[in-house]
Amino acid sequence: AAKPGLLPSADIAAVQQVVLGFSQLGSESTWREANTASIREAAGEAGITLLLKNAEQDQQQQFDAIRSFIRSNVDVIAIAPVVQTGWEPILLEIKQAGIPVIILDRSVNVQDSSLYVTFIGSDFYEEGVKAAKYVVDKMRHHSEVIRIAELQGTVGSTPSIDRGRGFRKLIGDKPNLRITMTAPADFTRSGGHAVMKTFLQQPKEQWPRVLYSHNDDMAIGAVEAIKEAGLVPGEDIIIVSVDGTRRAFEQMVAGSINAVVECNPLLGPLLMQAVKEILAGRTLPKRMVTPEDIYTQELAAMEIDNRKY
Ligand code: AHR
Repeated sequence: AAKPGLLPSADIAAVQQVVLGFSQLGSESTWREANTASIREAAGEAGITLLLKNAEQDQQQQFDAIRSFIRSNVDVIAIAPVVQTGWEPILLEIKQAGIPVIILDRSVNVQDSSLYVTFIGSDFYEEGVKAAKYVVDKMRHHSEVIRIAELQGTVGSTPSIDRGRGFRKLIGDKPNLRITMTAPADFTRSGGHAVMKTFLQQPKEQWPRVLYSHNDDMAIGAVEAIKEAGLVPGEDIIIVSVDGTRRAFEQMVAGSINAVVECNPLLGPLLMQAVKEILAGRTLPKRMVTPEDIYTQELAAMEIDNRKY
């Protein structure tokens, strides 16, 4: 295993075999598949040996994977945490083993920020704000009560918590925009379908005019449920979601989803760069945020061929 030294970061992997242990939280969504593929590809290109374990959305499995990385004496451990809490003890174990940690994609709630080197990922709060801005703008000519249904992601996960907070913060001063239905659907397409179905089993007067989905897979599942209920997604129910997958772009081009806030899963190159920088003994920023956009139906047709995930 390589140890921090004075070599230029580009040469580190070439001279010594660098081993990165990566605890991926699961394979629940299209975003996650793209994220895993990006990390595998970038590791290959960087000449870094990748030990990747998929925890299938189970924090305990993440702990088991991390302990196996410690036993293997990897050079760096990267973690995409399924939920925010409960990380101190395992991060302490890693610290005691002298292995640097990179937090990727979702954050961890810890008192002692020296337990990890850097956190690379999106600003989920800002994503929620962007989604709400779209809804506020879309509904600007409506003074009547607008019922909003919300499909949350995994309970306790950073994107679900922060996308919910950002959205609420922005609609807070619009009294006619009301979240009247909200439930977790675990970031999965089947979850989105099942939860939206239960929303539409309510009396018609309670049906939402807007759906805010914390990711594209749940939105696509919800589109199916909306069609099954005899409604037209994108018209009878305005839909805004988060991620920016090609499948969501296809739904925008078809008119079924109205807007998508981008969340970039292609974190592999940034992660490998960070691994090399750490092993070269350099200091990294504590937080690295990926730049992201919002796309509406008008832009979707132009952009769809550029989508890489
Ligand atoms: O943590 C990022 C989120 O997790 C993505 O929005 C979602 O699709 C994934 O499952």
